[in-house]
Amino acid sequence: MSGIYIHIPFCAKKCFYCDFFMSLSLKYKDDYLKALKQELKLRKNYLQNQSVETIYFGGGTPSLLNEKELNALFEEIYKDFNVSENPEITLEANPDDLSTEYLKNLRKTPVNRLSIGIQSFFDDDLKMMNRRHSAKESLFAVKEAQNVGFENISGDLIYGLPEMTTKKWEYNLQEFFKLKIPHLSAYHLTYEPNTVFLKYLKTKRIYEIPETESLKQFELLKQLAKAHNFIHYETSNFAKDGFFSKHNTGYWQQKHYLGIGASAHSYDGNSRQFNIKNLKEYITRVGETGAYFEKEILSDADTYNDYIITTLRTVWGTDVSYVSEKIGNRFAEFLTNKAKTQIHNGNLVLKDNVLYLSEKGKFIENTILENLFYL
Ligand SMILES: C[S@@+](CC[C@H](N)C(=O)[O-])C[C@H]1O[C@@H](n2cnc3c(N)ncnc32)[C@H](O)[C@@H]1O
Ligand code: SF4
Repeated sequence: MSGIYIHIPFCAKKCFYCDFFMSLSLKYKDDYLKALKQELKLRKNYLQNQSVETIYFGGGTPSLLNEKELNALFEEIYKDFNVSENPEITLEANPDDLSTEYLKNLRKTPVNRLSIGIQSFFDDDLKMMNRRHSAKESLFAVKEAQNVGFENISGDLIYGLPEMTTKKWEYNLQEFFKLKIPHLSAYHLTYEPNTVFLKYLKTKRIYEIPETESLKQFELLKQLAKAHNFIHYETSNFAKDGFFSKHNTGYWQQKHYLGIGASAHSYDGNSRQFNIKNLKEYITRVGETGAYFEKEILSDADTYNDYIITTLRTVWGTDVSYVSEKIGNRFAEFLTNKAKTQIHNGNLVLKDNVLYLSEKGKFIENTILENLFYL
């Protein structure tokens, strides 16, 4: 089982919190789409004919692509890869792109899952984030997507925003659960480099909410998700049974994936590849079949650290036996020793030789991860 990720690095507006690789100009869009097809062809053996169970268009804003552009990419994918019979095919979408006409046309492509960036149901917060849609547009987009026949829909929300009260967050969650969609990605705001929010924070134009408030919002999220029968299957991801993101689950279960496009990553079990983060360079170098990526052969320590970082945040936990069998006994011993203190402090739980974050541990997962790393 494997997956394909395709990065669409175009946005109509830059959100003030976002540091993902993207461009506001569409000048190179056609050349970029051509380069994506070239890269698909160039790397058709990367997955060694493994069955492709998931395809994910991430961004940037993949909903800036029309039906024709998407179908041209699918044509290449189906030609070059062994796509399974019922793949999960996700498209990340901004609400204001999802007109009735766009959604109807999208149904004519193989896309069968939508991940919609709702972020908030308060127009003042959307404005503060420099989003280009209103709360009303998000509600319309979700309803229309359901009307045209999309069942597998996920929504993104952000909490821990400047001045966000727990009451406001509760309203956002309640509105979300009214939509009757089966998947929620809820991210706590992080202040990323090169963002307007970080600049505002440094110049005291905005303030971080206190940690106690962040914790309350996270607790409320877990509580309301549970009350609505959503399973908390990864730190920021919640879903009804049967609706976990198969693509992201693949990342967390060490499945191989091919990343296509500028800034995309790939993993084949032994190495990771990182495509160049520059639109023009990517287009030129792919066209000339030149070096457009860096390759890193994974040492045992890298494999161990990757395994910890991708598993500990999930409901499946970190399997000490897997570490011992696949990576090496000395890493399993290292992990067991390091985990002892965390278990004693109530941050980790060990059950059947699998380590899980406790409810307390979930909120300080980065500190725990750092502690378990092999440096
Ligand atoms: C990079 S966007 C791509 C999807 C689409 N362009 C959109 O805006 O909905 C994916 C998601 O990452 C989340 N995100 C990006 N930067 C973040 C940050 N600094 N803090 C919290 N969430 C963030 C947002 O919720 C966003 O919906
Ligand atoms: S959050 Fe989405 S729309 Fe906003 S800048 Fe980032 S990728 Fe673009």
